[in-house]
Amino acid sequence: MSSKSGPWCRAADMSKCRSCRAPAVIDLPRHNAHFCAEHLEQLCRRQFRRAVDDFAMFSHDDTILVAVSGGKDSLALWDMLATEGYSTVGLYIGLGIGRYSDESHDVVAAFAADRGLKLRTVDLRTEHGFDVPTAARVTARVPCSSCGLSKRHIFDEVARDGGFDVVVTGHNLDDEAAVLFGNALRWDVEYLRRQAPVLPARGRFPRKAKPLVRLTEREMAAWCVIRGIDYVVEECPMAIGNRHHTYKEALAVVEATSPGTTAAFYLGFLDRMAPLLATTADEEPVELCRSCGAPSGSSDGVCAFCRLAERASTATPVPVEMVLSRGARRRYIEQWGDAPATEGDTDGRP
Ligand code: AMP
Ligand code: FES
Ligand code: ZN
Ligand code: ZN
Repeated sequence: MSSKSGPWCRAADMSKCRSCRAPAVIDLPRHNAHFCAEHLEQLCRRQFRRAVDDFAMFSHDDTILVAVSGGKDSLALWDMLATEGYSTVGLYIGLGIGRYSDESHDVVAAFAADRGLKLRTVDLRTEHGFDVPTAARVTARVPCSSCGLSKRHIFDEVARDGGFDVVVTGHNLDDEAAVLFGNALRWDVEYLRRQAPVLPARGRFPRKAKPLVRLTEREMAAWCVIRGIDYVVEECPMAIGNRHHTYKEALAVVEATSPGTTAAFYLGFLDRMAPLLATTADEEPVELCRSCGAPSGSSDGVCAFCRLAERASTATPVPVEMVLSRGARRRYIEQWGDAPATEGDTDGRP
């Protein structure tokens, strides 16, 4: 289910590249220009370097742990880092989301093998005794909440154990603008205050950076096409239709009539609003989890991840089909093939 082409990189009829007048492969309305493959690649590298330098994300002396999901953004990011001479190791987390996870793992493993890059894989069920669908059922919360908690915990743990200087993720401009939009709609000042492209290391938490914050989804998809990167086109079946997608769609409507608005919204926030919200640095929780040794911040001495693992690992495993709403299950079967027998429709409710 991976692809070298997508709906993103459409041939821009007879238009010419702004830089060299060669036939263009993509139009970028926010730059009011068309680009050939070579100059699109240069533009992406410039925006990547600018984000890394402006926010002092990392240097060539750092060892970088790249969180790779198999989607276009994180594979494009790994490709950029490797070809810019950074020292990297990839990290793929198997979340147990049916065939979507199996396919994602295969795509990431093939990417790493083809380029001679080192990959570390952590399988949630094998190493921690549960998966995301089961956690969603047990907690009766949206899957993304235990998924996000598990990913953050494993990023931190692998970075700490492996002595990495920084963990990077493939969050792009559209992702960050959608998160900002959601936080602003709720005036969630705590989240707004922490929404930065780089978070410094704090005690046992490693530094985290998002080097693609100046690049859009469409630009990253085009990067993958140009660079011959095979990626998983399908979105996570458990995340489809969540609030984050709705915010993205709303911003896309504004962007279509007013190109550049998304970048102005997010980059303007970083430039003019974030400094006003900055207060003293967050305190690192002093308590360490008695199960895993990570900072726990909880009075019972067990971190949120270990508490989740304790509950979810004793539950009967739930296949992904059983925690999807009717519509999402239909789409899942269309994309990934027929499901094994299930206990009936749950309408997304555990
Ligand atoms: P998402 O939260 O799914 O939008 O993903 C955001 C970023 O988190 C991706 O660009 C990756 O860098 C990272 N990520 C997501 N899923 C995984 C995974 N299964 N394994 C490792 N990293 C991931
Ligand atoms: Fe986390 Fe889908 S990737 S719920
Ligand atoms: Zn050109
Ligand atoms: Zn713990």
